[in-house]
This record gives sequence, C-alpha cells and structure tokens, in this order.
Amino acid sequence: MTVPDEPTDSTARTESNPSADQFTVTPYAVEGEVDYEKLLEQFGADRLTDGQVARFPDHPLLRRRTFYAGRDVDRYLEAAESGAPHAIVTGRGPSGPMHLGHVLPLYLAKRFQEETGATVSIPVSDDEKFLAKEQSFAAIGEHTRENLRDVLAVGFDPEKTRIVVDTADADVIYPIAVRLAKHLTPATVEAVYGEQDTVGLQFYPAVQATHLLLPQLVDGRQPTLVPIAVDQDPHVRVCRDIAAKEALPVDKPGALLGRFLPSLEGPGKMSSSGDAPSIELTADPDTVAETIRTHAYTGGRATLEDHRERGGDPTVDVPFQYLRFFFEPDDAVLERIATEYRAGDLLSGELKEIAIDRITEFLDAHQRRRAELGSLETELEPYRLTDGERRLALERAGVSSLET
Ligand code: TRP
Repeated sequence: MTVPDEPTDSTARTESNPSADQFTVTPYAVEGEVDYEKLLEQFGADRLTDGQVARFPDHPLLRRRTFYAGRDVDRYLEAAESGAPHAIVTGRGPSGPMHLGHVLPLYLAKRFQEETGATVSIPVSDDEKFLAKEQSFAAIGEHTRENLRDVLAVGFDPEKTRIVVDTADADVIYPIAVRLAKHLTPATVEAVYGEQDTVGLQFYPAVQATHLLLPQLVDGRQPTLVPIAVDQDPHVRVCRDIAAKEALPVDKPGALLGRFLPSLEGPGKMSSSGDAPSIELTADPDTVAETIRTHAYTGGRATLEDHRERGGDPTVDVPFQYLRFFFEPDDAVLERIATEYRAGDLLSGELKEIAIDRITEFLDAHQRRRAELGSLETELEPYRLTDGERRLALERAGVSSLET
C-alpha cells in the first residue's frame, strides 16, 4: 500500500538535527518539533498496521496515516465488524473559535457513525479551558456556544450521538469524576501531565476520564475508541489506569492517535492561540484565500526558473499537506498534483489556489449547515443525555445520589 507524500518528519532524529530530541507533548504544552515515532515509544502506543487501516471505514485521514497510531484498536474493530455496540468519544476544549484542525476528528467520527453505526459521544470541556486559559467564565461560555454550533453542523445522527458540556451536565459528570478521582494521585498527574498550576487542573484528568467511560456507563460495556491528536493521549492512559483500578463495568478505552494539521507557517501544531494564523470554520472565502496566499509555507523554489527546473517538494508544502490530510479525498488526483509539483509543472501559487478551492468548498458546506441551525437550545436538545441515561450512568458508576 502506498502512502503518498507523507510529510517528512523534519523531526526525525539525525546527527544534523540534534535538537529533535527536545520536544514536549502533553495536553497543556506542545513544544519543539514533534517526533511522531519517538512519541509512540514514549507513550507506549502502536503504529497502525496496514491490516488495521483496511478494517476501518475508508477515510483519507486513515488511508494517508494522519491518524497513524493507536492503542487497543482491534477490539473496537471486531465490534464494528460484527455489528456489536461500539463507541467513539471525541471532545472539544472550547478555548476559542474552532479551526480546520479541530473538525478533522469530528468528521472522521461521523464517517464511522455512518459506516458501522458507532455511537458518538462529544464532551465539551469548558471547565478545563476555564482553568487552563486566562479567560473569564463568560468568555469560555461564549466559545462553548459557538463551538457547539460547529459540532452540530457536522450533522451527527441524534439517535446515536450524545453531547455533554461539563458545567451544564455536572449532575452526571461530577459524581463519576469524583469516584474516579479517588484513586488518581498527584504523583500520577504530575508524572503524566507535568506540574499543574492549580488543583483545578490536577482534578481535570478525572473529568476527562469520565468522558471516555461515559458511553459505556450510559449504554453498557463496549469497545470505545478515542480519535484524538496525539497530545491528548495522556488522558487516555490515565483513564485506562483508573478504569482498571476501580472495577467499573467498563472496558479500557482505546485510542486512535493523530498528527497535528501543520500550522500554515510550517510543520508543528496548528495553533489557535499562538502566532501562526489559522483558518477558522467561519472564515469567508476571501479570508481563506488571503490567509493561504500570504501565510502558507510552500515547498516551492525561490525563483520561477529554479522551480520549473528542479520542481517543488510536496512533503513540506503546507497547501499540499492540507489537501493530503483531508481536503482532496481522491488519491489519484492527489498523486497527480504531487507529480506535477515535483516535476516543476505546477507552481506554488497554483497549488495554493487548488487548496483554497477545496478548503472553501468544504467550509461552504459546513457553514451552510451551521447557518441552517435554529436556536442552540432547540438544536442541542435531541443530543443531550435523557434523564434515564443520566440515571443509568450514575447507577453503573455506583454513584447514584440521594434524589434518584
Ligand atoms: N481536552 C480536549 C482538548 O483540550 C478536549 C476534550 C475533552 C476531549 N474531553 C475529551 C477530547 C474527550 C477527546 C476526548 O482539546
């Protein structure tokens, strides 16, 4: 199987790149150039095999190894193949407007739901972002509302999808998190996440562990897969540990680990909070075009002549990588673009315009669905946990409170 033009991990450790060792990846800090292979060693996760990729629903994010690794994916695949219940958890930390990188796991989850009937659970961690960012509760609340509209615009099946917001669904999240927190020590939290500034952030891993177990607490024991950017893997590891210790009626959740969509300015994490510009889901076509034309890092040559003669390098070209990650689903088209670029027939400016077209098309469809939504309360209602589901989850977790 060919994986066309996977980005070179400019990061691979070589003698000429001695700094490659120096990177940090935790949910609260991604620094330095990420060495994706080395991370797997550090985290104890496994590269996906061709066989595993072939068993997942076909999707460019997997076919091209943007999601490149995992833990415990076989149990999930078996359930998906045999029609047994299986769940996906993919969440959102509402620290600001959502940009392109944030929706990739959501669209992947939607595909899984369509193909194999996965239930999808989407927790929104407003508590986490309040604690982790210098922002007021009101500001985080506003991001939460806007982000929820983007989540709803993806178009999940309300029968098979649940959306929870930590502070709004605290009646169910909090008691379960408390139970899980009982055996989560500060030493574990520090070892996994590094030192935290507040006890709030020290507690939060218990909340995210709750998210990852929630589908099983609501619907019964079943393989659960968490497709996330690799920086979120520590949450999965902590959850797996606690789930085992607590003797809850749940299986350990598995993970599907993804690379970061490159920043427009070059390899590294696409950041909504850093300096590099990012493309928000609400960006209009002119903004998309302008942002890519002025900011996208290319693999083209310095002069036209040189480019025609020696060709460009798609592996470092950000517009090409965007097409490769998600926006050009057709492998043959993608391969042709790569070939023409390498041959010098396609110029960087032309490649940028292709990316602009595809991204604009994608955003147009997303934005149309977003604009058609009614009030948030009304739209969200069919996705919220029912009273019965809340009761069941608390019961299964052994934390039913007095009033139920
Ligand atoms: N912590 C995630 C972030 O910062 C958001 C999140 C919350 C999440 N719960 C989750 C992601 C569960 C995946 C699964 O982006």
